[in-house]
Amino acid sequence: MQVLVDKFDDFGQGITFVDDVITFVPNTIPGDIVDIKIVKKKKKYNVGKVINYIKLSKDRIDYKCPYFNKCGGCVLQSISYDATINFKLNKVINLFNKYNLDIKPEIVKNPSDYNYRNKIKLMVIDGKIGYFETNSHTLVEINECIIASKAINKVIPLLKNFNIINGNIVIRCNLNDEILIIIESNDKLNIDIDVLKEKIKLVGIVVNNKTIYGDNFLIECINDIYYKISYDSFFQINPYVASILFNIIKGNIDKTDIVLDLFCGVGTLSLNAALNANEVIGVEIVPNAVLNAIYNAKINKINNTKFILNDAQDAVGKINKKFDKIIIDPPRSGLTKKTIDTILTIMPKKIIYVSCDPNTLIRDILLLKDKYFIEKSYILDMFSYSYHVECICILNLF
Ligand SMILES: C[S@@+](CC[C@H](N)C(=O)[O-])C[C@H]1O[C@@H](n2cnc3c(N)ncnc32)[C@H](O)[C@@H]1O
Repeated sequence: MQVLVDKFDDFGQGITFVDDVITFVPNTIPGDIVDIKIVKKKKKYNVGKVINYIKLSKDRIDYKCPYFNKCGGCVLQSISYDATINFKLNKVINLFNKYNLDIKPEIVKNPSDYNYRNKIKLMVIDGKIGYFETNSHTLVEINECIIASKAINKVIPLLKNFNIINGNIVIRCNLNDEILIIIESNDKLNIDIDVLKEKIKLVGIVVNNKTIYGDNFLIECINDIYYKISYDSFFQINPYVASILFNIIKGNIDKTDIVLDLFCGVGTLSLNAALNANEVIGVEIVPNAVLNAIYNAKINKINNTKFILNDAQDAVGKINKKFDKIIIDPPRSGLTKKTIDTILTIMPKKIIYVSCDPNTLIRDILLLKDKYFIEKSYILDMFSYSYHVECICILNLF
């Protein structure tokens, strides 16, 4: 049947209506006229498959990635960069409005919308290396990834020679193009270090948590602060947008502030906040990340920080301090009820909530909204061409 695609859903796939039933049509964008076959019929929705593109939307552009529509990554590559920004802005505003939360976010675009990622994870199945298709475990073999840094792209074709049959490979790099390779596999590997060193700036290789060559960490420098990042520590995947994020955090801290940074990783937000604050305490659950944070404070000669290894929800109640501001940057799952309850007993003047999932961000804000209002919000295009988005909400005590 012939349909006109009306709009995007929150995951960047086209939606149309068939007999008033919402119908998701992957690989389409609003304005496309397509012939579809219904491949899934549920009570409340259908899924359609494109049989034929009859007329393409005027908003389409030529996508650059050879694996577009196959790999599950960058679903927004067939519209212009500015259109992807509008999609993300509308998606976040609509989600907030749905819960009667009004925001007028400031948009932060990605200064490097391609070749921005400093980390990728590739799966290896039966000797084939690539990413998974959307919502599946079917592998799409790849030789390049145009959102990954150019340094990472030099590594991808070399991986075939490692003799990995099954497992996964993480490639991390810094802005100096130095490379750390992290492998999980039970296969007998065959890695020619000398060949690798000729082609890339290899810093280290870690296999099943053991360092088999060089170091097990990278050093990154953003906004003149140096960070040691262990192979298993989190770091923001887009250093260009991270630089802007760090400045936003710093700009919200005053010199008398005593600050708590929950989910602090290697101390990025803590150290930036500490440049303006009286004192900052960071809490993180990954041991190497806490060791990195302590080391990072030292090498940057930032002396007003402390870092604690603990689960955020347990740590908050134990620290006997009156915090003026709390920075929160949790994983996608957001905060536990216990963490929110403890924050409400501390009652800081400001909560600076950094989030990579607007759904859990909103869920948590709803639990804080009797005491806090959204003073300012930002949408950062940290993950260009994917449907993901980074948000910051500055919450002020009423
Ligand atoms: C989104 S990252 C943010 C890290 C840091 N703020 C940054 O900008 O690099 C979330 C961090 O929370 C840590 N984490 C996850 N669960 C945690 C928990 N229950 N308690 C404390 N830290 C946790 C992760 O290890 C990760 O470092």
